[in-house]
Amino acid sequence: MSTDRPIIVIGSGGHARVVADALLAAGATVLGFTDADPARHGLSLLGLPVLGDDSTLQAHQPDAVHLANGLGGVGSAGAAGPGQGRLRQRVQQGLAAQGWQFVGVRHPSAVLSPFAELAGCVQLLAGSIVQPGARLGEGCIVNTAAVVEHDVHLSAWCHVAPRALLCGDVRVGTGSHIGAGAVLRQGVRLGANTLVGAGAVVVRSFEGSVVLAGVPARVMESRR
Ligand SMILES: CC(C)(COP(=O)(O)OP(=O)(O)OC[C@H]1O[C@@H](n2cnc3c(N)ncnc32)[C@H](O)[C@@H]1OP(=O)(O)O)[C@@H](O)C(=O)NCCC(=O)NCCS
Repeated sequence: MSTDRPIIVIGSGGHARVVADALLAAGATVLGFTDADPARHGLSLLGLPVLGDDSTLQAHQPDAVHLANGLGGVGSAGAAGPGQGRLRQRVQQGLAAQGWQFVGVRHPSAVLSPFAELAGCVQLLAGSIVQPGARLGEGCIVNTAAVVEHDVHLSAWCHVAPRALLCGDVRVGTGSHIGAGAVLRQGVRLGANTLVGAGAVVVRSFEGSVVLAGVPARVMESRR
């Protein structure tokens, strides 16, 4: 990750604070947070201000400041589920189209094999592990203490929630959320925009955009 310019974190919720914490631990200068909600403007989080909404960025030059994406997905099957993940993608791509540059995030305690491949703006949070042969698409999050084993391929904008374990050779489609503590057995394939519930154990592949939960994981709901 680049720490040569000061960074503003987009969002001011829980994920934004985890991202800011990782940036600070890595030695970056963080100027503060943005949030669309006026009630949050002026709050102090981790000793850093909520500066305003995204229009506050206009006080800076795009070549002088980097941005970090602080919008997570909450992993519910409702409107705030993968929709929230898509919000994350939409906001980042909208700001990038205006010339803002987003940085990836790597907490110093994250373990990243030099034989893994990361696309841009991947977030590796505290205690996460990414093993050789893994390939992570743009905007993926490997959250606290999650493990992405050898040769796993995650398409863009996937969120691997805290303590999830993706065994070797797993493939996950774009925009999917792997819930906290879930286990994906080696070689399993999941489609795009799949939501795996917390604690699920996925022992076979599932096509399409589904919500999975339980041990062994079964379909709770089909999104299409
Ligand atoms: C699976 C999940 C998507 C379901 O969300 P939801 O549709 O809002 O479900 P509800 O909470 O309304 O529960 C519906 C039913 O499913 C059950 N259920 C919910 N989550 C479950 C889970 N993870 N495993 C097994 N059963 C679950 C509930 O007990 C309930 O059962 P009931 O109808 O018999 O009472 C959600 O609970 C989940 O696990 N999300 C991931 C959370 C996560 O990863 N957080 C980390 C964020 S960084």
